[in-house]
Amino acid sequence: MKGIILAGGAGTRLYPATIACSKQMLPIYDKPMIYYPLSVLMLAGIRDILIISTPRDIKSFENLLKDGHQLGLNLQYIIQEQPKGLAEAFILGKEFIGKDKVCLILGDNIFYGHDLTKMVRASASLKSGAELYGFTVANPKSFGVAVLDKNDPNKLIAIEEKPENPKSNLAVTGLYFYDNDVVKIAENVKPSARGELEITSINNEYIKRGKAKINNLGRGFAWLDTGTHENMLDASIFVKMVQSRTGCYVACLEEIAFNNGYINKEQLLEAANKHKNTEYGNYLRRLYEEN
Ligand code: DAU
Repeated sequence: MKGIILAGGAGTRLYPATIACSKQMLPIYDKPMIYYPLSVLMLAGIRDILIISTPRDIKSFENLLKDGHQLGLNLQYIIQEQPKGLAEAFILGKEFIGKDKVCLILGDNIFYGHDLTKMVRASASLKSGAELYGFTVANPKSFGVAVLDKNDPNKLIAIEEKPENPKSNLAVTGLYFYDNDVVKIAENVKPSARGELEITSINNEYIKRGKAKINNLGRGFAWLDTGTHENMLDASIFVKMVQSRTGCYVACLEEIAFNNGYINKEQLLEAANKHKNTEYGNYLRRLYEEN
């Protein structure tokens, strides 16, 4: 399975912080935001990853993550000229995806919780159709919202994009697993009333075909919002709290690469040295010494 991280968009809701800088490059506590979605793809065992961003920002992602070899990954980059919508990821990524299945994660989505690895690994081995992830939120109007069968709450009937009167509190998160049909489906998506190629149109097509499943992330999970400055601060505090309390890092890419067997001990030490005397570097050094 291939992976795509969509890390473009204008980021206007976070001005002035994003006037000259990509939203997905802003720090969530101690690391760039994109580390978090990248860590989810790595936990799913996905190594071939396409990063999509704006003409202005693509270079900074390349400077940050290079070709990925230091993490045992194969990273590629492509420009999205205009933020025409999430579904465009599969049109831009058509060649990269080839005949494979694909997982899309939005570059501003942060997930944390027990057994996340198990869940995403299972989704990464999906045979056909689409697998989505739902999360119960207090403010469903801001998201794609699941419409569920009254008699079977696990059955997805439709998804409504930012509805005025949400039919449930189950938001559809920015983590999507698809079979190869997604490319053709995306090519046939028409722009919505707000002029975007909506991911929700793709998901509704899979639902229509009876081939979509939604995994409900339960109460033990955190799906963190990064839509406003306040949300970003909350997400930073959350990550800091988990890291200080448990002594384990959230989205430490080198740690995941090492645990997955993508890099060896020497590469782990190399990464530790590169981070010099930072907490992050000390954490990597500790992992090296403990292994
Ligand atoms: O976060 C989950 C939600 O993401 C879903 O519940 C919604 O169904 C889905 O439409 C999407 O809603 P958002 O309002 O959060 O989408 P937004 O336009 O903010 O874009 C999400 C991220 O993708 C954001 O970091 C910018 C980036 N992006 C967006 C567009 C439209 C791109 O890279 N290219 C684009 O063309």
